[in-house]
Amino acid sequence: MKEVFKGTVEVPSKVILFGEHAVVEGYGAISMAVDLKTRGRIFESEKDIVINLRDLGRSLTLNIEDIPTLNLRNYNSSVKYVLCAIKSIVNYLKDRGYEDFKPFKLDISSDIPVSCGLGSSASVVATTIKSFLSANTISIPKKELCKICFSVEREVQGKASITDTATVIYNSVLKIKNSNDFEVLEGTKLYKLLKGCHFLVVHVERRKKKTAELVKEVAEHPRKEEIFRSIGEIVNKVEEVSTWEELGDLMVKNHKLLRELGVSTSKIDKVVELGSRYGYGAKLSGAGGGGVVIILTDEDRREGLLESLRELEVLDVFECKVGVKSEIKRDKK
Ligand code: MEV
Repeated sequence: MKEVFKGTVEVPSKVILFGEHAVVEGYGAISMAVDLKTRGRIFESEKDIVINLRDLGRSLTLNIEDIPTLNLRNYNSSVKYVLCAIKSIVNYLKDRGYEDFKPFKLDISSDIPVSCGLGSSASVVATTIKSFLSANTISIPKKELCKICFSVEREVQGKASITDTATVIYNSVLKIKNSNDFEVLEGTKLYKLLKGCHFLVVHVERRKKKTAELVKEVAEHPRKEEIFRSIGEIVNKVEEVSTWEELGDLMVKNHKLLRELGVSTSKIDKVVELGSRYGYGAKLSGAGGGGVVIILTDEDRREGLLESLRELEVLDVFECKVGVKSEIKRDKK
């Protein structure tokens, strides 16, 4: 039988420009959506909800009646995010009087390297929930969508802030005010400055630890309060900066504090050093322990930077600008 295509849902990824880890403890952060996307392609289905996780080569078949009481304990985390997302949206809608949900087939695929600091889990969760809503022609306010996606992140990951979820859903530059409140910065002085910036997102190396483990280790750091306070002060200064030089300096200062927290690696430090030598500044982005570095580039010295990154054998380099399609600069190794 020919499949009936119902539509596509796309959700971007994110980088944290300032404030990761401290944001989990209630300090501010600045984050930015990156145009590397997760895509959900929706098709009609006769009976069940069938979800194909293309990048994992896995397929899940869910009887709609069973979803509200799904036991997630026996699944690994990549599958758990998707199942928890479906269960959460079904229970949210049932609590508001909806019933008789439509079966559908969903193919999920993503441009985003998994578990490297680019918010792939938040992006997959938002794609799953938005696809469910689209297949059932239901719309809910963005703020509500954000709350549900955040509750999924917390349930699967443990301690988390709203940063990843809100950034991929609002698809913009955000100031996270504390672990669950935020503001979209469009039109502000910082937004205008960022719009002129060229960033490179460098996938330096695979992470050996998951975000949850890194957040837990940081929570046990003896000097975490003092370091978080210094990161918080940097975030407060960001909205006042007027030049790329000032912005880059703050990135490097933020990186040094993340290094003190123990979430950098020697290869990440090398890339940050290159970012400062050839650009305006750089820092790791996300939970760390490997993953990505964001570099504020100086376009006149970009070739030297790309050459040095090649010599270091980083995994991927993505070009990104606020509101502009991101491009992969080098073939995947
Ligand atoms: C993960 O992208 C960023 C962390 O601050 C965790 C969080 O905010 O949930 C490490």
